[in-house]
Amino acid sequence: MNKVQPSVTQVNKWSVMSRVFHWISALLLLVTWAMILLYGNTDDSSYVNLHKAFGVSLLFWMLARVIHRVFTKAPPAAVMPKWQLIISKLTHFALYALLIAMPIAGVLMSVYGGRAVDVFGLFQIPVFVDIDRSAARFYNDLHTDIIWPMIIVFTVAHIGAALFHQFVQKDKLINRML
Ligand code: HEM
Ligand code: HEM
Repeated sequence: MNKVQPSVTQVNKWSVMSRVFHWISALLLLVTWAMILLYGNTDDSSYVNLHKAFGVSLLFWMLARVIHRVFTKAPPAAVMPKWQLIISKLTHFALYALLIAMPIAGVLMSVYGGRAVDVFGLFQIPVFVDIDRSAARFYNDLHTDIIWPMIIVFTVAHIGAALFHQFVQKDKLINRML
């Protein structure tokens, strides 16, 4: 039987701001993904424009989140074997890095292709590079064939670990982020 230590994991919640950053990031990721799925199913270009706008929003959100994370104190780590702690830290680091790299690759694919990126009609990221089809193709491949599968793998592992804590270990780890 696993030792259950709910008191340890229950009390050490993430700050309100950290929780807001976490769940809005997850929501933005979901919406950005939904937009590209809708685009794939309808071929309506307004969806790809929304995909880009939500993706750029996620980039700004993640940058603010990282700055907040660096300058504020995280709660003490949950009690778990050292190897699990190391894997969770690596996974979290990978998620931060991937969610920043993904929209940057998206923006670069667009601008190298000669297309400015409109963000909800509020502002535009102009074509700030010389048009270069092979660079556009490179960032397109990076976006869709490399970084996206990695996001899927790490997100599934992350949510799988949360479910494992919730239903197998029953240690209420999820409460730290709720
Ligand atoms: C974290 C944010 C983002 C995520 C998770 C994301 C995810 C995706 C996914 C899953 C696809 C479909 C890949 C496929 O066809 O299999 C895609 C395609 C695309 N993304 Fe993103 N994206 C993000 C941000 C951006 C940004 C910021 C831009 C541009 C400013 C962008 C531009 C595009 C374009 C143009 C396509 C279509 C590519 C094609 O038709 O080959 N994405 N994205
Ligand atoms: C149902 C969905 C999700 C659940 C239940 C969940 C749960 C959690 C929990 C409980 C933690 C805190 C772990 C701890 O205190 O040690 C956490 C942290 C984290 N989550 Fe999620 N999460 C979900 C979705 C996501 C998604 C979609 C992403 C991004 C792709 C994400 C990225 C992160 C990151 C980067 C951290 C680390 C925070 C830090 O150390 O600064 N999560 N998540």
